[in-house]
Amino acid sequence: MNVSDSEIVASVLQSSGFGLTHDPLTADVVLLNTCAIRENAEQRVRRRLEFFRSRKRKHNPNLRIGVLGCMAERLRHKLLEQERLVDIVVGPDAYRDLPNLLHQVERSGQSAVNVELSREETYADIAPVRYNSNGISAFVSIMRGCDNMCAFCVVPFTRGRERSRNAGTIVRECQELFDVGYREVTLLGQNVNSYRDGPVDFATLVYRVSLLSPDLRIRYSTSHPKDCSQELLEVHQERSNVCNFIHLPVQHGNSEVLRRMRRGYSSQEYRTLIERARKVCPSVSLSTDIIAGFCGETEEEHQDTLTLLTDIEYDHAFMFIYSERPDTYAARKYNDDVPEDVKKRRLSEIITLQNSISRKKNQQEIGQVHTVLVEGPSKRSDTKFCGRTDTNKMVIFDRGTLKAGDYAQVEIKDCTSATLFGNVLID
Ligand code: 5AD
Ligand code: SF4
Repeated sequence: MNVSDSEIVASVLQSSGFGLTHDPLTADVVLLNTCAIRENAEQRVRRRLEFFRSRKRKHNPNLRIGVLGCMAERLRHKLLEQERLVDIVVGPDAYRDLPNLLHQVERSGQSAVNVELSREETYADIAPVRYNSNGISAFVSIMRGCDNMCAFCVVPFTRGRERSRNAGTIVRECQELFDVGYREVTLLGQNVNSYRDGPVDFATLVYRVSLLSPDLRIRYSTSHPKDCSQELLEVHQERSNVCNFIHLPVQHGNSEVLRRMRRGYSSQEYRTLIERARKVCPSVSLSTDIIAGFCGETEEEHQDTLTLLTDIEYDHAFMFIYSERPDTYAARKYNDDVPEDVKKRRLSEIITLQNSISRKKNQQEIGQVHTVLVEGPSKRSDTKFCGRTDTNKMVIFDRGTLKAGDYAQVEIKDCTSATLFGNVLID
């Protein structure tokens, strides 16, 4: 989401005459687009801010430093006044105001702030400048904000109310991306399943985008299990270019913890949803998010998360230690009472188990042939290319005569828990 937002920021600034540099040390303005989801994300931003502040002091007194995004929203004036860390603070709905705020800082020599949240802003008319893109795979923002109010989550406070972008502008952006060579779009929102623009719900939107070309792959993130509709599963089944992969964050394996988390489903309801998804799309690849050590989590409740992971066998999971966020329901109502060492041990049990499941799932791929969308050179070797399967698994293979954007048939020969290795089949 932040990568996508930074592309919008780049577009807003470029239209007002600012230029991009890939070297932050030569920049006149450095804007950090921040995340507030966990304490350690914020700590990393503070360290980065310290670095730029010391650069400003020692080498470039005219450097302007700005904080954008969720941390700007959460800490508002604190960043400006108490800590005097930055010149500019701009929340996720105020990016159109950035050129104006930067000029204001120049004119007045004072810091500037805009953290107003909006009920309408979707940046629908702004063409993102995809300055870090591989030219093959693009993010397309379809909605902003979240109304779910999960007990642990700061997002509804930092990103504001849910609002959907006009469907016509989304379909047009995807068509334009395809026309200039992109072969994959990831439709983005905090909770894409609650997308709605008049009669167009999320399943309809995905269907419409899938009609643009069979060679344009469609992914999306993130789904909320409580709103994952049968229609959407059927779109996965019916449209071969809608990827055979769903990220369905469960957060926890115990129903009582899920109730405390205010997730809106029980462990059993979630399991039924997974059964339904696998019935409609038998080879669907699944990933999830897990939180270890939420308020009041007992050893038995933790075991239920391990059992759920064992039963469901996700292909991949993002796993986190619970981090109390100020103002959330959990921070106001519950005690963050699982000791840090217990949280860490539980997380490490979860990671060890999931890694072994991911490895096992990847081993089952050996001998299978996948259609891989070639993304470009692999990070580790110039003679290798990397790309993803329809099921969102990264594959490394010999580059041969392939180029980025091609679809290749790749037979899987080897794997780790995170990556597949294969041979390109020549037809
Ligand atoms: N502590 C730990 N993890 C969190 N997440 C959201 N809020 C918190 C928190 N306070 C995780 C959830 C969510 C993912 C994006 O981040 O698992 O799905
Ligand atoms: Fe946070 Fe829940 Fe909204 Fe996801 S659905 S952004 S976890 S409040």
